[in-house]
Amino acid sequence: MSSSIQFQKLIIGNWKSHKNQTQARDWLIDFAQNLIAIPDESLKVVVAPPYPLLPVMAEAIAAENKLKRFLELGVQDMSPFSAGSYTGAVSGLNLEPMPITTAIIGHSDRRRYFHETDQEIAQKVDQALQHDILPVVCVDDDQIDSQAAALSDEQRSKVVLAYEPLAAIGSGKPWPVQKVEAAVSSIKAAFGEVKVLYGGSVAFSTVADYLAVTDGSIVGSASLKPTDFADLLRAIE
Ligand code: PGA
Repeated sequence: MSSSIQFQKLIIGNWKSHKNQTQARDWLIDFAQNLIAIPDESLKVVVAPPYPLLPVMAEAIAAENKLKRFLELGVQDMSPFSAGSYTGAVSGLNLEPMPITTAIIGHSDRRRYFHETDQEIAQKVDQALQHDILPVVCVDDDQIDSQAAALSDEQRSKVVLAYEPLAAIGSGKPWPVQKVEAAVSSIKAAFGEVKVLYGGSVAFSTVADYLAVTDGSIVGSASLKPTDFADLLRAIE
């Protein structure tokens, strides 16, 4: 496992604040059962559960022959600060020694409900990189330029971007593929040669269309049921 950018396609299941420990364990059992084939090495597959589920999931993945060969763990956020007096924040140190490879940073839920700014997101990117965690920075159209400006050249060379149009997220109505393709160009114009994912109501029936114009997807709703997530991975093979 590695936090490196060296993948051809990346799929991240974002559970948001769904599930308890029992449901997380059951999800892994059902997912392993429904998985027909182990994804190819070029496909990086990450599940990002809520923080308290991480230890249980790390243990369950390590104990399952199929899953331990490919399934990685991610987080949905990072503290913008190192370990210290920051009540309620989860620092990179707090995550050790769990095998976290990836962090979703600046998701629209974080920007919208927790009022995160481009500058805080840049600090979170730093924290992720310091802990060898791949930062996946989410942007909508109106955040592309300001977020690119808030990151240093070095940060821009080490992040993956995710284009996440707010109206498509959780709506069951994915964004038109042509619009995603245009946004990928705008993101590359602002950030340089970055990898770009798309997120917003991706399902097994549409994932291949988006992978044709992006480097991967953040999958919310369709990652919550293990059968849906297994179907989605199968649609990529
Ligand atoms: P959704 O979530 O697949 O449920 O639209 C995607 C996301 O929040 O990144």
